[in-house]
Amino acid sequence: MSRSGHDQLVEHMFDQLEPLYGNHPDWPAEKVRIAALIAGEKAARPADLVELDTARASDPAWFGKPNIVGYSFYVDRFAGTLRGVTKRLPWLADLGVTLLHPLPINLPQSGDSDGGFAVADYRAIDPALGDVEDVRTLAQVLHGRGMALAMDCVLNHCARDSAWAQAALAGDPTYRDYFRIFDTEGEIATWEEALDEVFPDTAPGNFTYEAELNGFVWTTFYPFQWDLNWANPAIFREMLGVLLYWANIGIDAFRLDSAPYLWKRLGTNSRNLPETHALVAALRAGLDAVAPGVALLAEAIEQTAQVLPYLEPEDGTRVCQIAYQNSAMAALWVALATGDPEPLSKVIDGTRLRRDDTAWLTYLRCHDDIIWSALEGTVPADVLEQCSRFYAGEDASFARGMSFQARPGAAPSTVGMLASLVGETGEAAIARYRLLLGTLLALPGMPMLYMGDEIGLPNTNAAYDARWLHRPHMDWSRAEASASGRDTGAPFLATTRQLVQLRASLTGLDAKTPVAITAHAGVLMIERGFGKDALLVLANFTAAPARVMKPDGWDHLVIDLTGEGTTTDELPPYGLQWLRRSM
Ligand code: GLC
Repeated sequence: MSRSGHDQLVEHMFDQLEPLYGNHPDWPAEKVRIAALIAGEKAARPADLVELDTARASDPAWFGKPNIVGYSFYVDRFAGTLRGVTKRLPWLADLGVTLLHPLPINLPQSGDSDGGFAVADYRAIDPALGDVEDVRTLAQVLHGRGMALAMDCVLNHCARDSAWAQAALAGDPTYRDYFRIFDTEGEIATWEEALDEVFPDTAPGNFTYEAELNGFVWTTFYPFQWDLNWANPAIFREMLGVLLYWANIGIDAFRLDSAPYLWKRLGTNSRNLPETHALVAALRAGLDAVAPGVALLAEAIEQTAQVLPYLEPEDGTRVCQIAYQNSAMAALWVALATGDPEPLSKVIDGTRLRRDDTAWLTYLRCHDDIIWSALEGTVPADVLEQCSRFYAGEDASFARGMSFQARPGAAPSTVGMLASLVGETGEAAIARYRLLLGTLLALPGMPMLYMGDEIGLPNTNAAYDARWLHRPHMDWSRAEASASGRDTGAPFLATTRQLVQLRASLTGLDAKTPVAITAHAGVLMIERGFGKDALLVLANFTAAPARVMKPDGWDHLVIDLTGEGTTTDELPPYGLQWLRRSM
């Protein structure tokens, strides 16, 4: 990039920040420090990573290629350590996985760390998993295989154990200003009026009293997760520094954890504020100046209208390149419970992307709960309630999930492993899995699998936070038995491998190809791509046979999960077919 291109990016970053920090007394000094930070990291970017940036410049949605399929996992539960992950690469290669998302690997809060989402040191790795050199090596190994490595950057909060929080507790005013601390109960009550609660059952309220602070610290999530004070420009500098540091170690994509919560403003719910969007845009610009090929993934589990600006804001600013398509995820589960894929069709219709550098992250399950309220306004409240009950195993359902955290007035969200939510074992459970995965992989986006789902691992034991119900250890003996066809996991594995590997060869499924989607009488019809690469997917979400209004000419079966072995005008219960036009 030309020098002037670099300067423009830095200028663009400062333009985003000026309205936020312009009046802050530290701003002039911080600007100098931020500019120096960027210059230093730019000079230090290793040549092989610069080469990757250059290659990605002509392929700005590199993560949306049909062969890019992600896999999200806890390192300890999947492979013990980061080095252990390298040993499991053959398993991932057989699955067709090409992008790895290890859940948080930074040094965490001691004891309960919310699954690592309370970070004690952003530049250190949890020693139980390995060290920084292991991350560098893993990235290099993956790059050598044309694969990529994603990493969490927990932007909104750090651990009570962190040096920053400890310094604040010790009374250091510089670090006290890294957090939002209030003196009186009256003050926090005023803020609380407009705030929601993320964990109403396990961590009610948004503030935690700390005697040593002689006040209340903002803690949106658990009391040991202290929200950072993004109104202080030092936080922007620190977190940009973290992104650039890991980008230069070899990270290809950052998952911006809890992105909506960064900026707080009294009288609002302090989520998705314009200032937060400006901060994310500024992080992007700073990263562009050093590592333009590295993608940002927004973790904004909100209704679609709130998520879209993280990807494609109306003013055209480049922000995140990937965002969780959580409305489509929930709508897939609604479709399975109700037999009605219409809401899914509506969500996909309403979330078409226009830029050439963005894609949705599509998924069925992840380490978090299914949040039904994301579909409020798209699906009637009573149907969301019904789905919540259904997946908790009520109302004669096949599902074996549980409810988690009921916000007042909203349907409780759902936890459970994928296999448990589709009925665990047996023909019908497998058919439901095929239907969901076969549909997911045809939607526009970059799919992300969740560890254990590929062999149909069921729920494990729930801890205090019921999301642990779906965070099992990988069962490698079951995995091996599944691979040789000797386990109840075998059909899950065979389906996953078959669909993911086939997808990689279908250019019609690139995230950037158009989509036409309709739902009629329980059947979803998805058309993707152009000409000879075009693909038609038919999916029957009902438990009964369904007639399909298949357009003419789609007679070449790419994949048949109906057992019929032929194109047909009637799909069996949960039947799914991928078709091409006969040439
Ligand atoms: C994100 C994570 C979730 C965590 C929360 C707080 O939503 O996915 O697991 O509890 O952030 O960090």
